[in-house]
Amino acid sequence: MARISERLRVSRKIGAIAESATLAVDAKAKALKAAGEHVISFGAGEPDFPTPANIVEAAVEACRDPASHKYSPAAGLPELRAAIAVKTERDSGYACEPTHVLVTNGGKQAVYNAFQVLLDPGDEVLLPAPYWTTYPEAIALADGVTVAVPTTEKTEFRTSVDQLEAARTERTKAMLFVSPSNPTGAVYPREEVEAIGRWADEHDLWVITDEIYEHLTFGGHRFTSMPAVVPEIVGNCIVVNGVAKTYAMTGWRVGWMIGPADIVIAAANLQSHSTSNVANVSQRAALAAVSGDLSAVAEMRAAFERRGRTMHEMLSRVPGVTCLEPQGAFYCFPSFEGVLGREIAGRTVGTTLELSEVLLDEALVAVVPGEAFGAPGYARLSFALGDDELVEGLERITALLG
Ligand SMILES: Cc1ncc(COP(=O)(O)O)c(C=O)c1O
Repeated sequence: MARISERLRVSRKIGAIAESATLAVDAKAKALKAAGEHVISFGAGEPDFPTPANIVEAAVEACRDPASHKYSPAAGLPELRAAIAVKTERDSGYACEPTHVLVTNGGKQAVYNAFQVLLDPGDEVLLPAPYWTTYPEAIALADGVTVAVPTTEKTEFRTSVDQLEAARTERTKAMLFVSPSNPTGAVYPREEVEAIGRWADEHDLWVITDEIYEHLTFGGHRFTSMPAVVPEIVGNCIVVNGVAKTYAMTGWRVGWMIGPADIVIAAANLQSHSTSNVANVSQRAALAAVSGDLSAVAEMRAAFERRGRTMHEMLSRVPGVTCLEPQGAFYCFPSFEGVLGREIAGRTVGTTLELSEVLLDEALVAVVPGEAFGAPGYARLSFALGDDELVEGLERITALLG
């Protein structure tokens, strides 16, 4: 009989989860800050604005309502599910029923639920890279297999039907689609969204489409919702969304998935045994957010666009760095290939992982290395921080690498 000490203390599945590089960088930056250093962090994936006051007031009111103090349906407050259905048609043109909406603990739980509900062991998921770090972990937790589909700045970090078709096998069950993208800021034009949707329909594949940055697009770039423009895929499509990025509500933890009834029922069952209802106070805040107008997000979008332009201009002037202009979300994703191999502050920097350490140690600037997103040679810089801090941080990078 195996002695307890010979067994794994942590299960293989959970032990295999990679530490989030985003959080690791953030933790180191915070430790330096706590030690009194003026660290400038480009690591954060969240708006620097507070949640709009009317939303906070709705939450305060909900706190005082005894109904909020009790359990509520695991699938979400019925009035919030209904309001999300209305908001979805208003914002993206995708008409869905409240019963097709499941309220989740942030968009992250919607991603987790989607893969848990869809995948059997060995099922493959096509995942365009660079990708948000959570996707491959959520796929692995559902015993699925990530098939990364690499993209570069040559195609502005967009994949194509040809590339996807080349990666498709008998085991392909789903693809993950995200536009605007974290980490690249890429936004797919409508005709490409349509082409990918039609291809997925033709091959009976599921599409999980992450629309969390729908309102953050810049210049002439516009968000397109796949099920709105390819209605044929509605039966094989899960939309992921949430209030975090649109309403500066990352800490409230409200997201949702929209999918066919059988999928929503299955995910609600899973949720009923894992997390139960999302905190009622947060749901009532989200109700105020999605039922209100979009004036707060218009202001934030304008600030992000201005900051994104400044960041792009300043990064493009750094020798060895190339950077596409961000099209959406709030990230620049420059290539540092031309910097690697150089000696910086007495250290030879061979990878972007090492570069991020040197930037933090020598310039007190935090960036997330591309390794975290399946894209070594690049780094992600968030421009969700104040204009002055942003300029100072970029000046420090320029001084160190220039
Ligand atoms: C692409 C993408 N999807 C989903 C999420 C999940 O956001 P939340 O769980 O805070 O709603 C994030 C957060 O960083 C994200 O970048």
